[in-house]
Amino acid sequence: MRLSLAVAAVAAYARFALAQSTQFCDSGAGNLCFQSFTDPVHGISFRMVFPTSTTATEFIGEIEAPTGVAWAGLALGGGMLNNPLLMAWPNNGALVTTARIAAGYVQPTAYTGLTLTTIAGSSHVNSTGWKWTFRCQNCTSWSGGSFDPNGTPVMAWAYGATPVFTPADPNSNFAQHDDFGFWGMVTSAAHDANYQSFLNGGGGTTTAPPTSTTTTTSATSTPTLPPAQATPYDYIIVGAGAGGIVAADKLSQAGKKVLLIERGGPSTAETGGNNIPPWAKGTNDTRFDVPGLFESMFTGNTFWWCKDTNFFAGCLTGGGTSVNAALYWLPTDDDFSTGNGWPSGWQQAGQYASIINGRMPSTDTPSPDGKLYLQESYNVVQQILKPLGYSELTINSNRNFKDHVYGHSAYNFVNGKRAGPVATYLRTSKARSNFKFLQYVYVQSVVRNGATITGVQTNDTTVGPNGFIPLTKNGRVILSAGSFGTPRILFTSGIGPTDMIQVAQKNPTVGSLVPAQSSWINLPVGFNVQDNPSINLIFQHPTVDAYDNWDSAVIWDNPRPADAAQYLKSNTGPFAGASPRLNFWQALGGPDGKTRWMQGTVRPGAGSVTTKYPYDSSKIFTITVYLSYGITSRGRIGIDAAMKGQALVNPWFQDPVDKTVLLDGLNQIINSAKQVSNLTLVTPDKDTALTDYVNNYDPSAMCSNHWIGSAKIGTSNTTSVVDSNTKVWGTNNLFVVDASIWPSLPMGNPHAAIMASAELAVAKILALSGGP
Ligand SMILES: Cc1cc2nc3c(=O)[nH]c(=O)nc-3n(C[C@H](O)[C@H](O)[C@H](O)COP(=O)(O)OP(=O)(O)OC[C@H]3O[C@@H](n4cnc5c(N)ncnc54)[C@H](O)[C@@H]3O)c2cc1C
Ligand SMILES: *[C@@H]1O[C@H](CO)[C@@H](O)[C@H](O)[C@H]1NC(C)=O
Ligand SMILES: *[C@@H]1O[C@H](CO)[C@@H](O)[C@H](O)[C@H]1NC(C)=O
Ligand SMILES: *[C@@H]1O[C@H](CO)[C@@H](O)[C@H](O)[C@H]1NC(C)=O
Ligand SMILES: *[C@@H]1O[C@H](CO)[C@@H](O)[C@H](O)[C@H]1NC(C)=O
Ligand SMILES: *[C@@H]1O[C@H](CO)[C@@H](O)[C@H](O)[C@H]1NC(C)=O
Ligand SMILES: *[C@@H]1O[C@H](CO)[C@@H](O)[C@H](O)[C@H]1NC(C)=O
Repeated sequence: MRLSLAVAAVAAYARFALAQSTQFCDSGAGNLCFQSFTDPVHGISFRMVFPTSTTATEFIGEIEAPTGVAWAGLALGGGMLNNPLLMAWPNNGALVTTARIAAGYVQPTAYTGLTLTTIAGSSHVNSTGWKWTFRCQNCTSWSGGSFDPNGTPVMAWAYGATPVFTPADPNSNFAQHDDFGFWGMVTSAAHDANYQSFLNGGGGTTTAPPTSTTTTTSATSTPTLPPAQATPYDYIIVGAGAGGIVAADKLSQAGKKVLLIERGGPSTAETGGNNIPPWAKGTNDTRFDVPGLFESMFTGNTFWWCKDTNFFAGCLTGGGTSVNAALYWLPTDDDFSTGNGWPSGWQQAGQYASIINGRMPSTDTPSPDGKLYLQESYNVVQQILKPLGYSELTINSNRNFKDHVYGHSAYNFVNGKRAGPVATYLRTSKARSNFKFLQYVYVQSVVRNGATITGVQTNDTTVGPNGFIPLTKNGRVILSAGSFGTPRILFTSGIGPTDMIQVAQKNPTVGSLVPAQSSWINLPVGFNVQDNPSINLIFQHPTVDAYDNWDSAVIWDNPRPADAAQYLKSNTGPFAGASPRLNFWQALGGPDGKTRWMQGTVRPGAGSVTTKYPYDSSKIFTITVYLSYGITSRGRIGIDAAMKGQALVNPWFQDPVDKTVLLDGLNQIINSAKQVSNLTLVTPDKDTALTDYVNNYDPSAMCSNHWIGSAKIGTSNTTSVVDSNTKVWGTNNLFVVDASIWPSLPMGNPHAAIMASAELAVAKILALSGGP
């Protein structure tokens, strides 16, 4: 709970005509005539009546609220700091009440200097609302403050749309109020001669005599969790990957108060990372900085991988962009076409490709000395492609030309180091005072009152009361937690298909965060996912240097001395690039009349080889052949009982035509390879028919880690999860900006396309009215 707004605001309000209370005689409370103020927005009434004495130190109060008011509070002064706050909320048909006081911008703690007695005969919870009538003794003054029982003191009210965290517990922590206000309480007109007789059960009333219960604001009780300051933000962005970093930068650049929350820790040295290979001790050359260490990601102490999915996903600053090969393809016009599933208004690939390339220039000579290293596989593969009619090109210089084209692999490395969004967009964000970045904080859910998100629930009680971080008024939450991370948060927040929300509801850790079923929002979260099916062909050629197959024990612990020395000296050489050396694309027609594109990625070495024939592991190279743009198969992802991300339906080859087309492309390559002197196909070997090889391929090995579509953008709330402004259907202020919104795969490895879509998404979010 943050109280500074209330404190700051009262002085300003007080100079203007403040609303004042009026008389209200309550037939439910002995016809006592209270002074009453009803806040016009939420319809909550706050009332007080005093004994006849003009110096009375006690009063009878009332808070009466319609159903839907999760909690309400009456502050006995014109602000919520250092004034007692009398609060109530309904729980299982009964009222739970408490007196609190806040000495700073922290969760208010129990206040024990007054005596609160609930008057049961006049208090109730029913189907349309609730009412708390109470006696408050020793209530007109307190350490540090007082109010005049015979004047027009300013009082404050607070309203919470989100239930307190443990409703049965009077000492429960709670989120920041969603609204508050002030009024002048005309205490001078609130003295009733029947005060004492009402308390005594008489007073000439027709109501049942009051019975009393004393609430439990005991001196020994302390809040269950340490109090913590919760600063509200205009935009809370969950996940510092390709989408989230761009979103945070554009929003903080626009002057919004932005919080970026990342569950993982540092990656590159710039972010505080220090995972440095033994041969580079004393430098800032971490695993995430040195391009040539890409292949070392897959073995060893893998703290950087998310442990709660079955697939590779980066859980550290930069997300996938800190652990990927950094292959960098400017989006094509087709990527953002309506034919690829984007709503109209998104067809600006060219503009955003230029913006992205302006901030993160593409290079196909990643070594800063301008030389190309380990080019043998490039030279062999172009002998396969040229007879098929391919032409050689600097691929990003003609981003839309993706048929029968090959070229050197393009990267966004800078000065021989990984750059990507971390060294560009995150760097500029960090320089702004309105930007805050939290690492090692895990977001469990968004907290919402129906369609309105009030903040995020994290696992860290030091960042907010009970881990809750609130939004400012009209604030917005953007989920950028990736294709598996975003759905998991949505499910726990009661958004998605019923079966997945029910799984989250049963989880012992997060189940209690799932809202009541009546407020679930049914959307196809997790459906419509795609990932490129990819098949490896492994060849051997006498000229090829397999570079020790990028064995981690070599490149991490014991690299070729000259290459390590060269990199340490000038950030040049083989370590200045990731393993890929050549990429190619080709359009392929299918028997269904549709066109699908094949992509190839060539690298020296191989991860694993399957053959019963001898081969020379020092002379092998791999062509990974993917099916990319135009693919028609879709799968479904979800969570298991442990909240682990799963493919409920694998996305690869659900449509058999995808397989037919990829087989066609593979056959063309294999056939053309036959005319290249001294080139042998190692896997699949000569005893294995290509169709059998593909049919028996381990589905998880077919994964390309390019998952998209789990919170698909669209124009209908039955077939998509976010609308054309990336706002989650059925919510007022929840957005998704990451790979999940992509309706269909782009042409190339996707991180640049995802960043371009994030640029465009933020432009739309900023233009959308009603925001902070
Ligand atoms: C091994 C591998 C190689 C790849 N190679 C390439 C390549 O060469 N070129 C290319 O273009 N693409 C490549 N990709 C794909 C690319 O990296 C991803 O498509 C891209 O990073 C996805 O961006 P995103 O913003 O959707 O999610 P991510 O980049 O995955 O970012 C999501 C972030 O959210 C954080 N997060 C998740 N859940 C929570 C939570 N509950 N609370 C707080 N934080 C959370 C994660 O830790 C992560 O940092 C590769 C991916 C992998 C895994
Ligand atoms: C239910 O409670 C509300 C709020 O106190 C009150 O306005 C309403 O009259 C009550 N309804 C009944 C049927 O008592
Ligand atoms: C009444 O409040 C004062 C603080 O203003 C406190 O010192 C005193 O103990 C309280 N009395 C009772 C009986 O609670
Ligand atoms: C490593 O980076 C830090 C912070 O940027 C810098 O202070 C330090 O000089 C760098 N060390 C080396 C060896 O470059
Ligand atoms: C929250 O989760 C993150 C990511 O799993 C973890 O690193 C961190 O230690 C957790 N924080 C707390 C307070 O448990
Ligand atoms: C093929 O290999 C043989 C023997 O290793 C060699 O003599 C010949 O030059 C090679 N041909 C080509 C085109 O590389
Ligand atoms: C979807 O749209 C229909 C028609 O406008 C509406 O009734 C329904 O509540 C919407 N559902 C969501 C989840 O927004």
